[in-house]
Amino acid sequence: DWTPDSFVEETVEAIQEKVGNDKVVLGLSGGVDSTVAAVLLNKAIGKNLYCIFVNNGLLRKNEFQSVLNQYEGMGLNVKGVDASERFLAALAGLEDPELKRKAIGKTFIEVFDDEAHKLTDVKWLAQGTIYPDVIESVSATGGPSATIKSHHNVGGLPDFMKLKIVEPLRAIFKDEVRRVGATLGIDPELLGRHPFPGPGLGIRILGDITAEKVRILQEVDAIFINGLKEWGLYDKVWQAGAMLLPVNSVGVMGDERTYEKCVALRAVESTDGMTADWVNLPYEFLQKTSNEIINKVKGVNRVVYDISSKPPATIEWE
Ligand code: XMP
Repeated sequence: DWTPDSFVEETVEAIQEKVGNDKVVLGLSGGVDSTVAAVLLNKAIGKNLYCIFVNNGLLRKNEFQSVLNQYEGMGLNVKGVDASERFLAALAGLEDPELKRKAIGKTFIEVFDDEAHKLTDVKWLAQGTIYPDVIESVSATGGPSATIKSHHNVGGLPDFMKLKIVEPLRAIFKDEVRRVGATLGIDPELLGRHPFPGPGLGIRILGDITAEKVRILQEVDAIFINGLKEWGLYDKVWQAGAMLLPVNSVGVMGDERTYEKCVALRAVESTDGMTADWVNLPYEFLQKTSNEIINKVKGVNRVVYDISSKPPATIEWE
């Protein structure tokens, strides 16, 4: 019989047997899978686990600092690397979604490789790959692990990719990962987080990305997500977020005509992200959220709600 406790016990032993006294490097994303993998490895090998958490500048508002603090509080040996500027530079002028994804993936690998080189004698790369990732081979929802697999460059692998691989979650499903995480004492709020794409807000800012657009979208997203939490709606939704559209529209503020950005809010129900239905959020909630966004976020004068299901629409707009 599968239980989270026996899984933890067996996996910890298996990791110890496999890696012995070797050093292991792991990329943390702030997501459930990489976090649970890290805590398991930490239990097995302690300070021989070196975690790297990269800020690509496309995370949610304040997310980098707050998640980094959380990781440190969990006793993980983690290094936070703020590479926001490097990602923004790599993205400058890019409008095509796939080119943006490639630029983000490539930059992630460069940053991770630079950091991995600063560690000496590392023998293993740990990843939070879960069973659905193994079947699909490229994860739809994963963070760094998915990025690493799907975007490695053709002209020879970065050095960290030549490391031996350890993937403690590769035989289990997401709900089991959450149960393992709970057994390990990980904060339920962290375990209940919505999926968030590796390229982050980079694929929710339609068209080219600038620091100013990231700032606007972070503000909008924070109002929406905090509102969902306040209204007790967050856990009823599988994934939610906001898109910054490359559209200006006319509005009026006091006596002034405005010509500013439009944002789309999206909230979906799903089990695996392969299909999804838009969520019938209460009108009162939408009304309050829209007002708050327009009043508080400079540069936005219109809010729309996405009522498209997948298929044919995808969850992300890019
Ligand atoms: P779509 O937009 O394809 O999204 O309906 C399905 C799920 O996958 C996530 N997603 C991504 N995750 N890198 C990721 O790590 C990506 O490039 C990417 N694109 C979409 C999306 O957030 C949703 O959970």
